[in-house]
Amino acid sequence: MGYYVTTPIYYVNGAPHMGHAYSTVAADVLARHMRQRGESVFFLTGTDEHGEPVAEAAEKEGITPRELGDRNAPRFQELAKTLEVTNDFFIRTTDPPHMAAVQEVLQRVHDAGHVYMGEYEGLYCPRCADFKTETEVIEGNKCPIHLIELEVQKEENYFFRLSAFQEPLERLYSENPEWVLPKSRVNEARSFIDQGLRDVSLSRKNIKWGVPVPWDPEHVFYVWFDALLNYYTALTYAREGEDLTGEFWPPTVHVLAKDILKFHAVYWPALLMAAELPVPERLYIHGFLLMDEHKMSKSLGNVMDPFRIAELYGADALRFYFFREVVFGSDGSVSPEGFETRYTSELANEYGNLASRSLAMVARYRDGTVPDVVPPAEVAEQFEGLADSVCARLDAVDLSGALEEIWTRVRWLNRWVQDQAPWTLAKDPANSAQVDGILRGLVEGLRMVSLLLHAYMPATTGRLLAAIGEERRELSAAVFGEAPAPEVGELDPLFPRVEVDAEPKPGAE
Ligand code: MSP
Repeated sequence: MGYYVTTPIYYVNGAPHMGHAYSTVAADVLARHMRQRGESVFFLTGTDEHGEPVAEAAEKEGITPRELGDRNAPRFQELAKTLEVTNDFFIRTTDPPHMAAVQEVLQRVHDAGHVYMGEYEGLYCPRCADFKTETEVIEGNKCPIHLIELEVQKEENYFFRLSAFQEPLERLYSENPEWVLPKSRVNEARSFIDQGLRDVSLSRKNIKWGVPVPWDPEHVFYVWFDALLNYYTALTYAREGEDLTGEFWPPTVHVLAKDILKFHAVYWPALLMAAELPVPERLYIHGFLLMDEHKMSKSLGNVMDPFRIAELYGADALRFYFFREVVFGSDGSVSPEGFETRYTSELANEYGNLASRSLAMVARYRDGTVPDVVPPAEVAEQFEGLADSVCARLDAVDLSGALEEIWTRVRWLNRWVQDQAPWTLAKDPANSAQVDGILRGLVEGLRMVSLLLHAYMPATTGRLLAAIGEERRELSAAVFGEAPAPEVGELDPLFPRVEVDAEPKPGAE
């Protein structure tokens, strides 16, 4: 079986922002890492274009929902490209093959007796496109997410018999303790089920913008069922003439944030059970990035715009920052100032300096050829078991934990070279063997950390690996002391200082 990773599909009612970039980059790190391990990977992201939130936003702008999708979907594609994201396909829920496949699956669910016509009355949030139960609203019948007052809506709907899946869902949770990760989210997911499940609307009657219900074209499917099914339908048409479901279904991991946990933890597996399709192996629920806009930076002002950050500092810096600044799985603040601090103190001063100084010493003391000696045992020790442990962490989607393990070695190498002071030793030819060992150890250490960091920071690690003659990117090459001693090449600073007035001055050319 292949490794199949997804992001949520994003609403096209606005422009992409940091939160979208976060989930997408997280999934990309997993996809790249698994490819480095030789796995067959399929990585999906895309846009959710139906439903009320999109229709309302379009109306406000005086355009059709289709036009809004056509305007914004490319911006999400552009974001992925800008951040070096390697998705294998980009789904839009307005793709005709997606819509046809949604109809096909839901017709099957209907024919198997899981759907009935009923009347719904409840508090409805148009921004969530979700009916809320009494326990889900806050004081004044307000939506806890959008803080708008909700109105009671009454409507003839097709219903999905979610309540019939109470027991199968309970079983799913008790038999698969890692179906929802991190562990801190399991209770939250389970609580939806433990409250007792009620049937849910499968269709909407008064809305036109959606996938028509094939057995009753006066209705369109409720946007969440259309959206969730993207994870399945994409595999049926992403490659012309091929059905990838055989190789990639069920998904290995869906990456998402807590705001859409209920849909993924309850509706989605129940729907799949009703359609007699295997359920995903895992949901990974990350936290929220909280934008702390009081903390300004000189180059970025107070706005965390992923496009601007990538333009000024490079995509790698942002990709790194995401998993360093906030423990993946928890909520945490991000700010332009925090970003700049980490860029300078960790990327430039730790990794970047280690690289440039190591290569400069090889050039200066050994004419650019890394001495062909056995690297010192103390360095080898640092890297023992590291690749395996990074793999184990990433199997558990612990993106910050894996990065921390690698970064500990970057720091260790920095301290070590400082302690060894090869620049002093090199003054006396009697220390030649020792200098040889240090240089070899440094370059080998850099090779190891760079291969392991490659999924996080593909461009900069790629440049460093090229400069030390390592052409491989697969993790089987991450064995300490295994590479032949190379000639080193030129390396421009990996994380150069960013000029403060990079912003063109008003009136400037
Ligand atoms: N269209 C639905 C998802 C359908 S999936 C079948 C939707 N779209 S969304 O555009 O609102 O995206 C929500 C997702 O974007 C979150 O679950 C999360 O992955 C990401 N994020 C949006 N803002 C975020 C933060 N501030 N912080 C972290 N992630 C956030 O819901």
